[in-house]
Order: sequence, then structure tokens, then C-alpha cells
Amino acid sequence: MTEYNILLDAQKMPDAWYNVTPDLPAPMKPPLHPVTHQPLKADDLSAIFAMSLIEQEMSTQPAISIPGEVMDIYQLYRPTPLRRAYRLEKMLDTPARIFYKNESVTPSGSHKINTSIAQAYFNKKEGVNELTTETGAGQWGTALAIACSMLDMKCTVYMVRVSFEQKPYRRVLMQTYGADVVSSPSDTTDNGRAFQAKFPDTTGSLGMAISEAVEVAAKSGGRAKYSLGSVLNHVLLHQTVIGLEAKAQLEQVGEEPDVVIGCCGGGSNFAGISFPFVPMKKKGKNIDFIAVEPTACPTLTRGLYAYDYGDTAHMTPLLLQYTLGHQFVPPGIHAGGLRYHGVAQQVALMVKEGFMRAVACHQNPVFDALQMFAKAEGILAAPESGHAIRVAIDEALKCKESGESKAILFNLSGHGHFDMTAYEAYTNRKLEDYDLDQSIIDAAESVIPKI
Ligand SMILES: Cc1ncc(COP(=O)(O)O)c(C=O)c1O
Repeated sequence: MTEYNILLDAQKMPDAWYNVTPDLPAPMKPPLHPVTHQPLKADDLSAIFAMSLIEQEMSTQPAISIPGEVMDIYQLYRPTPLRRAYRLEKMLDTPARIFYKNESVTPSGSHKINTSIAQAYFNKKEGVNELTTETGAGQWGTALAIACSMLDMKCTVYMVRVSFEQKPYRRVLMQTYGADVVSSPSDTTDNGRAFQAKFPDTTGSLGMAISEAVEVAAKSGGRAKYSLGSVLNHVLLHQTVIGLEAKAQLEQVGEEPDVVIGCCGGGSNFAGISFPFVPMKKKGKNIDFIAVEPTACPTLTRGLYAYDYGDTAHMTPLLLQYTLGHQFVPPGIHAGGLRYHGVAQQVALMVKEGFMRAVACHQNPVFDALQMFAKAEGILAAPESGHAIRVAIDEALKCKESGESKAILFNLSGHGHFDMTAYEAYTNRKLEDYDLDQSIIDAAESVIPKI
């Protein structure tokens, strides 16, 4: 019988997250204070983040233990399966071996819950009873809503207006877990009211929703803290549980990856699947790490490497990253998620130093890949994950040309059960492939502070 599922023995589950900081190919530049532009101190962040998360953010330790209480919740759904995509390989007639880590089987339907549980836990431990956040398509908001309900905390989610209107069931899902969901920009915050006045017809953006969620936490006097679903070092750290498990699962079947692929929005699932393999590459194994983004939001492939804010209203620290400018709003025609203007500084540094690389895909080829994957493997993946599937297929087809039998690993970051509007648009041939005009990028980047 063909072995599709590579299950990890429970006793081999990682008990510590992998911290890439000491293994980075060059030192990270410090985050800067949003007002003074001076290097940030731990205290500057304490109004919005729990102290233990700030310590993780700045840690140079190679590993950070996963607390027992977090492990207990992880064990509801971890280890997730690593699958060999035999049926896809057969469909492509490729000599490549394709493996995918299936994070779509988590309670929230995506990898985001790996960090939401950890963040809720560390906040709760420090006496915080409410978390505020933003969400775009709703995957992150759902993950935080579940974590807060499990840890008996209040959760307030600022949901980007266009998604709030187009994805009512995502909203209901978050509400079912007890979260308050607010359409952003809203009239519940000073930032939201200012955005409404300045951009009355806006569809909203992650940058605006972040400004609202941060404001609520900053003004709460310590009652509430803010929680971010990607980008920051501690978020990427929590996601390394994905790659650590995948590494152990591959070891069980005597495999090492030649190519590691993840879709890239803020960078957390890409980091999660790829960072634990960094030491292997440093020891000499030739691994091609590929971050995949949409051509409609080409942060890593066409953005500027510069210090920029994480949000529209300049509430967050400045991080050195690739950015399209913190006021960038992706075109409404784009259906595939991954809409953030910036990216994690650790991922940006890896790409800048040439240790990892990035490619951008058009949305129709992404949906072609999603449909092939659904037909071959039976799983309806999230449009975001479709970017990774597209490039895994492209790499497998290159192997067909060259006759090489590479081991290709990608992260299936989530399922697409709430993305049927996008699938419908694809089926009805309503999706347009879209290259951003350079003038739009130049205009968006003109707001980046000169540092
Ligand atoms: C299923 C899925 N994959 C990937 C992403 C991209 O985020 P990140 O780059 O942080 O993994 C998202 C973001 O919301 C998502 O919902």
C-alpha cells in the first residue's frame, strides 16, 4: 500500500520553538520608535504587548520552550499530517517527490492558531483579559477568537471592511467563538474616524485595522493588549512548530528537502515551514527556499528594502523590511489574500542576503493549481496556500523537464471553505491577472519615511 500519511510519533513532537535570530545570515537592524525614530526599548512595547512576548521578540536564544499549557492545547490538533502527494505527482507525471504539511486541519482551519494560542497564553499569564487584533480574510481573527475562548479572554477583532461585507460567515464564525467583530475603518476609535473622514469610500486595509486595534490596546490602561497574526519575530517563532514537525516527519522516512515553499503575506507560515531547515542549509545542504506572493501585492519582489511602519496611522514601530508603503491598498480585483504592504524583517533579511528567494504569481495560475490540487489530493485549499501549491507544481514540472527527482516540501497553510466567492469568480472566469503599474508602487512608496 502507498504510504500517503507520514504521522509523527507523539513523543517526537517538538517541545521548544526554534529561534532563527542567532542563525540569520546577517544581524537584524533594530526596530525604531515610531515617533523618535530611535532604537526601540522593551518598555516602549509594554503598553501593547505582554512582557514575555517582548522578551521572545528580542531573544537571541536558539530555542524557547513551549509551555505545558500551550502543548496541551497544541495536542488537540498537533502534530499535523505531513503527506506525500502521490496523486498530484502522478497527475503531473513528475519524478519529483512532493510533500505537504497540512495545517488546514487545525480547529481554525489555518496555521494561525499556532501563535494565537501562545499569545493568548502568555498574555493571560500576565493578567491580561482582553486581546484586540485586526483581520483581513478572517483566518487570523478566527484563530485568535478560538484561543481567547479556550483561555477565557475577551477578543475584539477589527475586520477589513471589504471582507466584513463579503465574508459574513467568517464574521459569524468569530462571533460563535465569542469575539466582538467590528468593520474597519469604524467609528469606535479615533484612528477609524480619521480614516473614515479622509477615505470615505475605502474598502479598508490591514494597515488601517491594525491602527484601530493598537489604539484600543494602547488606551486601555493595561486591561487589553494587542495581538498580531504575522510579521513579528515572536509570531514567526511560534510558527516554527510547523517546520520542526515536518523535519522530524521527513527524517522518519529518510528524506531531506531540496526545495521548501510557503506562500508569503506577513511571512509567518513561510518562516514556520522554512526556518527550521536553515541550520541544514548552513551546514551545506543545498536547499532552495521560495516565498510566494501575489503579483497584485508584490512586497518581496518589487517593494523597497527600507524602514517602514506596520500600519497606516504610524502607531507601530518601524521595521527594516521590504515594503510597498504603509498606505498601500491592494486592488479590489485581487481574490487571493496575501495583501499586506510589508513583510517580516527576518524573512526580508533572508531574501535581501540571498539565503532565500521570492517569486510572484498571477491569480489565475494560482487557482489553476488550487483546482488541480483539489482534484488530485481531495483538499480545497485556501487561495493564499494556492500560491505555494502553484510554485510546488512549477518546480515539479521543472523536474519533469530535467529528469531530477527533487524532494519538494510546501506548507498547506489553510483550507478554503470560506473562500468560495473567490473560487466562484475563478470558475466563472471573472478573475483578472493583474500587474501593478510601477507608478502605483512609486506613489505608494513615496510615503515611506526617509531614514
Ligand atoms: C491560509 C493563510 N495562509 C497564509 C496567510 C498569510 O499570512 P502569513 O504570511 O503570515 O503566513 C494567511 C493570512 O492571513 C492565511 O490565512
